Amino acid sequence: MVEFRFEVRARDAAGRLGKLVINGRKIETPAIMPVVNPRQLIVTPGELKEMGFGIIITNSYIIYKDENLRKEALERGIHELLDYDGIIEVDSGSFQLMRYGGIDVTNREIIEFQHKIGVDIGTFLDIPTIPDAPREKAEAELKITLERAKEAEEIKEIAMNATVQGSTHLDLRRYAAQKLSEMNFEIHPIGAVVPLMEAYRYRELVDVVVNSKMGLKPDRPVHLFGAGHPMIFALAVAMGVDLFDSASYALYAKDDRYLTPEGTKKLDELEYFPCSCPICSRHTPRELREMPKEERTRLLALHNLWIIREELNRVKQAIKEGTLWELVDERARSHPKMFAAYNRLLEYREYLEENEPVTKGSALFKISEESMRWPIVLRAKKRAQRVGKKFGEKIEHPLFGEIPKYLGLTFPFAQSEGEEDFGISKPSGKEALTYIKAIAEYQFGEGASRAFENALVELSRKTGMPRQIKVNGKHLATFRAFDGFLTLGIEGAKRLMDILEYPRMRVVVNEDAEPFVRRGKSVFAKFVVDADEGIRPYDEVLIVNKEDELLGTGQTLLNGRELKIFKQGMAVKVRKGVERL
Ligand code: GUN
Ligand code: ZN
Repeated sequence: MVEFRFEVRARDAAGRLGKLVINGRKIETPAIMPVVNPRQLIVTPGELKEMGFGIIITNSYIIYKDENLRKEALERGIHELLDYDGIIEVDSGSFQLMRYGGIDVTNREIIEFQHKIGVDIGTFLDIPTIPDAPREKAEAELKITLERAKEAEEIKEIAMNATVQGSTHLDLRRYAAQKLSEMNFEIHPIGAVVPLMEAYRYRELVDVVVNSKMGLKPDRPVHLFGAGHPMIFALAVAMGVDLFDSASYALYAKDDRYLTPEGTKKLDELEYFPCSCPICSRHTPRELREMPKEERTRLLALHNLWIIREELNRVKQAIKEGTLWELVDERARSHPKMFAAYNRLLEYREYLEENEPVTKGSALFKISEESMRWPIVLRAKKRAQRVGKKFGEKIEHPLFGEIPKYLGLTFPFAQSEGEEDFGISKPSGKEALTYIKAIAEYQFGEGASRAFENALVELSRKTGMPRQIKVNGKHLATFRAFDGFLTLGIEGAKRLMDILEYPRMRVVVNEDAEPFVRRGKSVFAKFVVDADEGIRPYDEVLIVNKEDELLGTGQTLLNGRELKIFKQGMAVKVRKGVERL
């Protein structure tokens, strides 16, 4: 039996921080697998592990074709062959098929070989259809890929990649993604994108990736096959990519090229190293230039790996902080084609909105014109417009223009630049409840303000801001100081349930989870049986059983669609449970 688990832990934009467990080996995602060529180790797998790379990729076809490697792999297993105890993924020879036109192994043979040598993640022999292929060709090749997927599904005994193909025909990408999602696979790479990246066609890369993502089951990790340049990490992760692989660290090094998060430099152009990795802090560009080729290549490869690692950490930190769009925006400035890609991504409004968290740990700064097209901004405007119909009084906001006055304490309006000068005053006792009602409509939707009729708002003596909202001494909700949203108490949740018709704001769990929720324990995704598709990441939700009885309230990590699909990991962090009387 294969052990394979993928859990989402945190998220921002359509990107996620996740945990991947395969056969007892564990990594955090987004992750990049350095490509290891078993015939030529510039950096050894052991060194890669020490640098923090817990997953590598190599090519089972190269091992299969080389008599010595093949014999050794079959006898000792691939982990021994490469002397690496992390996760080993292998490709199948598909890339060679795309590059050189032909290979002599069948789909079944390569899958069985991958199993025999003990890989952690295999890849069946998909056909990478190059960009701009005529539709008939793309369709015909996709048909073969799907047949091979079927065969792979039947015989596989290891975790396996099922690569999405379809060339630049976006409906074919969506179709391929849907078909492969219906089958039993663990990871979905997006294939045949190397030619797009080599030609700087990043805008079309966005089309291909987003359309593939739209067809894929959201609980499966996605690998952007052949992507390893740090410049695109932020953009790709923001689209929902979890895994990368890089041969570029070695290929570029051989070519005397030096990676930076903003692009590639030639060693010849550099007088100074804009980096402080162990290589760059000990050498000058000139010293490197004067070294023998082999030594230079190795040191450049090491630098390239440090940079890859660093940029990936930066992306992960941005997800934690809720600043991934800021990083994407920054990286988009490094090349006009990257900028075009970024602008293209912002056109996929629905896809982005569905995945965008409702709140963030950091303020919204207008760092560019484009920031005003971020999903968090568009959503805020749309919701504010709805709330404005009920709560007519307006104020002028430095970024958003006219907004309902009573949203003035809430994210992103209150947590944005210029917040200090747009005239928000502390709510007076009388007005405080109007603020709470407006926030309820903004956060929980049309009608939600009615749950707060006749409520009493306690103001903090220290800050003057709302704190607890109560009715007859019963706790309805708490005003959360850092983002001006509400967290629900049981009484507030009950009132909200009476007003919002099923399934609004609900996460429905089965009998097994019921006692745990009632005792305030978190909801795992496998216990969720239904959910409101309108729920967004980090929403405050109502947790109910199949009879629509309230079990508790909490904050969801997953959106409504994901809640219905995910089977692994946490779904809702429970704040309060309803004890049975
Ligand atoms: N490596 C780079 N692109 C691809 C692809 O489309 N399929 C496979 N199997 N490997 C790749
Ligand atoms: Zn360096």
